[in-house]
Amino acid sequence: MNAAPHVIDTLSLGKIVQIRERLFEVAAQGRKVYRLESGDPSFTPPAHVIDAIVAAARAGKTHYIPNAGIPELRAALAHKAVHENGIADVRPQDVFVTHGAMHALFCAFHALLDVDDEVIVPDPMWTEVVENVRLARGKPVPVPLDHEHDFEYAPQAVAARVGPRTRAIFINTPHNPTGAVLSRETLLALIDIARRNDLWIVSDEAYEHVVYAPYQHHSVASLAGDWAHRVITVQSFSKSHAMAGLRVGALLVRDALLEQRLQKVLRCTINGVNSLAQWGALAALQGDRSHHAIMLAEYQKRRDVLLAALQGIDGVRVFTPRGTFFLWAEFAPELFARLGARDTDEISERLCAEGVGNTPGDAFGAAGVHAMRFAYSCETAMVEQGAEILRRVLTQGSTARTG
Ligand SMILES: Cc1ncc(COP(=O)(O)O)c(C=O)c1O
Repeated sequence: MNAAPHVIDTLSLGKIVQIRERLFEVAAQGRKVYRLESGDPSFTPPAHVIDAIVAAARAGKTHYIPNAGIPELRAALAHKAVHENGIADVRPQDVFVTHGAMHALFCAFHALLDVDDEVIVPDPMWTEVVENVRLARGKPVPVPLDHEHDFEYAPQAVAARVGPRTRAIFINTPHNPTGAVLSRETLLALIDIARRNDLWIVSDEAYEHVVYAPYQHHSVASLAGDWAHRVITVQSFSKSHAMAGLRVGALLVRDALLEQRLQKVLRCTINGVNSLAQWGALAALQGDRSHHAIMLAEYQKRRDVLLAALQGIDGVRVFTPRGTFFLWAEFAPELFARLGARDTDEISERLCAEGVGNTPGDAFGAAGVHAMRFAYSCETAMVEQGAEILRRVLTQGSTARTG
């Protein structure tokens, strides 16, 4: 009998999903819920995206399509990569349309990793990254991030974890769950480590359009020079165009063997993303893009509401998000003592009972054990009302103002 557990049994069921289910129970009891656990933009996709989907359906564009994406979308994504992301020489054949960035990660790690290959990942990190490394029979190697260094992925710490089995460095900027945005200097130093150690970089840029001034997004491959062919870029339409349910993402890859492997993984997993969603994605790239700025302004408003609610609470330290729509709050022992709570799970349950969604930080890795993530991608009024309850719950027994 094989003593090793089945790889799927090593994956978690996902705390966010469990919390969502708990909130649905609370809602079923007739209480209002505030969806601060979910990273799904409240906005609807731009009208021209919906029009393109309807027009494609009416025109009968409902047949099997090429495995790696419709040529028009691959060409538009290659054009975007060169002209907007600043990545040199991306050709349409280097672009693979995936079922969201989630599936892009699944495909990338499956195409890249051999059994027990190691991938260096930030801790905390959006859970599914580590799970996808495991699913591809790889080993995630966490590098803790901390508030003192603005949750930057420290190049020295990354270099210290490189070993004989290291295959890739995973980078995510802007970063879920902390809201950190990596500077050009940090990215250049990480690229240098990859180059010196002959490593791949998998760069997840799902939040490339959700960055607050004065911070800026830099596409890793645009800075990589002679190492750009070893950078796999992950993009998504979910956050940039509020198309989360339409499930369109992309991989940019410039390596013949990987491209061949990706064709196979795509064929055997999805055999092409839903054709109508791809026509919608094409319209999103080619049509008016004012929605990026409109959504960003609203996210900034929501961010400031949440920050105001959490600042000044004894035992709570917040990091001002520089990108994404997630706020990372760390809890000191005095908070647990004042609330009489053993751990973040207990605080999480109290918030859920009040209808306020949240995610305990350990869902994202061991470094998050005393932290919690609050998402502000739900509607502004919901963020405002949820923030008030959040402050009331976390100030219990405190002299801090609850207003
Ligand atoms: C860092 C990161 N990468 C990828 C994804 C997946 O996005 P998609 O909806 O395109 O699958 C998410 C979704 O929350 C994310 O936070």
